[in-house]
Amino acid sequence: MTIRAVVRGVGHYLPDRVVPNAEFEAIIETSDEWIRSRSGIERRHFAADGQMTSDLATRAAQAALADAGIEAEAIDAIIVATSTPDLTFPSVATMVQGALGMTRGFAFDVQAVCAGFAFALANANAMILSGQATRVLVIGAETFSRLMNWKDRGTCVLFGDGAGALVLEAAEGTGTTADRGILSTDLNSDGRFRDILYVDGGTSTGTTGHLVMEGKEVFRHAIEKLAETAHRALDKAGLTSDDVDWIVPHQANIRIIEGTARRMQVPMERVVVTVQDHGNTSAASIPLALSVGKARGQIKQGDLIVTEAIGGGLAWGAVVLRW
Ligand code: UT7
Repeated sequence: MTIRAVVRGVGHYLPDRVVPNAEFEAIIETSDEWIRSRSGIERRHFAADGQMTSDLATRAAQAALADAGIEAEAIDAIIVATSTPDLTFPSVATMVQGALGMTRGFAFDVQAVCAGFAFALANANAMILSGQATRVLVIGAETFSRLMNWKDRGTCVLFGDGAGALVLEAAEGTGTTADRGILSTDLNSDGRFRDILYVDGGTSTGTTGHLVMEGKEVFRHAIEKLAETAHRALDKAGLTSDDVDWIVPHQANIRIIEGTARRMQVPMERVVVTVQDHGNTSAASIPLALSVGKARGQIKQGDLIVTEAIGGGLAWGAVVLRW
């Protein structure tokens, strides 16, 4: 008997405030045209004052639980992928656990920046396969607007806030690639590249700090590493690009999304794209895209999905799952 971690529910939450590119024209030397053509972003959502990552995460979790048709008490573990926790500690995951009224189970955060959701999915999968948990709530939630240097036009126009969540549940499979659930994972990091994307604050400075990025360098690594990790994950599952129904990529830049799809020889008709509406929401971007992709009628039960993401660290990875 093979155990698989199968998606039972999905949901997302976006803060009410929508910020179109034009709003940046008033504060920095930029244009809607530049932002659209260089990144594909048209608008993004920003959290309201006092609205924290845990609030967004809780709303997404409630939506995923409703979609799954189960109560929070049935959840054994909560994993939140985030780099923008409300506080240094406790974890956002325990805040969500409390907000959901759960009195059992365990909860913790995973920090792998924009690749965080792939790392969280891999962790949830390992826990389900090893019997430590039967149902895991996996959440990606971020408020990157709070890390922006509003004078740096090369970064402040790119990011947004939001959250997405999946309910994963142990189910019996046949051990073949026809099974629903997570079929393979591929995780990577390389700390030699820590200086091309980081936040210049934390315990060392006593401040939250601001995001600093060498955009061109990160772009170069993304184009090279994303197709590679996606191919490796497919290979581990015994599948190829031809088997892929949907690439659900990290939504940082439409040019990176297109470049990766081209390298994977998957046409853009089979890629879920939300970057125009959300901007880069870091660890929230993949679960947001999964939820929106399902709501649009793109992703259907039985579809073979590859997710891939890269971010600060550098950290990058891919997950292959059958929806
Ligand atoms: O999720 C984590 C991973 N992050 C990413 O994947 C982001 C990766 N990087 C990128 O997406 C792209 O590199 C950017 C969108 C950040 C930048 O695009 P680019 O084509 O690499 O532009 P660039 O940084 O080379 O800048 C080109 C020009 C520069 O002017 P000069 O030096 O050629 O005169 C910039 O100063 O565009 C200028 N520029 C802007 N102009 C108008 C940079 N930002 C802006 C802006 N508005 N907001």
